[in-house]
Amino acid sequence: MNPVEIIRAKRDGGKLSSEQIKFFIDNYLEGEITDYQMSAFLMAVFFRGMNDDETFALTETMIKSGKVVDLSFINGIKVDKHSTGGVGDKTSLILAPLAAACGIYVPMISGRGLGHTGGTLDKLESIPGFNVNLSIEDYKRVLAKLGVVMIGQTAELAPADKRIYALRDVTATVNNISLITASIMSKKIAEGADAIVFDVKIGSGANLPDEEESKILAKKLVSVSRKFGKKAIAVLTDMSQPLGNNIGNWLEVEECLELLNGVKVDDLSKVNNVLAGAMIYLGGKVKDISEGEKIAQEIIDSGKAFGKFLELVKEQGGYVEYLNAYKKLKRPEFKSEFRALSGGFITKMEAHGFGMAAIDLGCGRKKADDKINFLSGIVLKKKYGDKVLKDDLICEIWSDDIAKNEAGKIRINDAVKIEPEAPPKKELIIDILE
Ligand code: URA
Repeated sequence: MNPVEIIRAKRDGGKLSSEQIKFFIDNYLEGEITDYQMSAFLMAVFFRGMNDDETFALTETMIKSGKVVDLSFINGIKVDKHSTGGVGDKTSLILAPLAAACGIYVPMISGRGLGHTGGTLDKLESIPGFNVNLSIEDYKRVLAKLGVVMIGQTAELAPADKRIYALRDVTATVNNISLITASIMSKKIAEGADAIVFDVKIGSGANLPDEEESKILAKKLVSVSRKFGKKAIAVLTDMSQPLGNNIGNWLEVEECLELLNGVKVDDLSKVNNVLAGAMIYLGGKVKDISEGEKIAQEIIDSGKAFGKFLELVKEQGGYVEYLNAYKKLKRPEFKSEFRALSGGFITKMEAHGFGMAAIDLGCGRKKADDKINFLSGIVLKKKYGDKVLKDDLICEIWSDDIAKNEAGKIRINDAVKIEPEAPPKKELIIDILE
């Protein structure tokens, strides 16, 4: 087979056979197909899409690019959660230790920042020493010991996603149902979970901003999970504005520490507890999601979830003293403020604009080998629907370069709108597919 013919076929809207898809992915991993050819292929898929058979073949090939972990030696239900990607979306760091503190095993393989959205691995790596690259043996050992483990794709687990994900991040080829499905499912099947909760984001900050497309994605994730014999629930949640108040890797870890220590952040707490509730339900510990939601808050209030998070950080090489001292840690050198230009109500706080601003500040990558600035980011002081007076502080902007702050401010200016009338309330939990 010739890679150029495969790219051309997809570019022209053709349907690829499973053999062609396998050839393309396998040869990419072997180094016989280059990054520029894979980028062209991804762009062709982005524009032309893939049908169900092609999506399934891509998912299967990506799973088979590595090993599938057998966790049957652990006597208990293994449940994971995966988000389709958002801005300020930090729930994995809270609900993984939280579900483990409820007696559920949580084997979690996550990704890095993708497009304008943040990634769990980058957030974890903002904790000095935290190792997301465990061998399969260590992955199993930590899971069996603590009930939770959080790693990334490796040379052994979902290696195709590791390489393709990094390329999609910087080639504007994230937002496609088939690519997202194959990317997420290859990690979820490889990790060995029995059941999965999907957080499918809807709104400007979602990887699929079109609501109908996000709903199709939710159904697809659930149906592909079933094909692989996994139980699944998809929770459709609002991502029209950033989730919680902090955006940026370390800033998001800080917000998680606050929440794990009992602070409530309206939208973040709600979304977190519903997702955790769904995990606890799939783990067989409660009769429905709402009972799981209540238990999730009790486990947070008891301090057990925080305790489990500290155990996890320690076990994976992270510097626990750094977390304990988080209130005293320094911020980046430059702080700017974005203030209300007029009084009124915040009627728009577009998550996509804030995500792009965060990338300008160094929280994400513009090229595959860019180094992230873990400390930079944005702290929101107001949210959608809040009443503001002229000059009220809407957000703080932090980075190591004042020019980056200024670039971020321009994005934020476009992302925020203030109008005289209060806007309609938005539903946080839009739907749940079981
Ligand atoms: N999360 C992933 O792991 N992959 C995607 O493509 C989007 C979100």
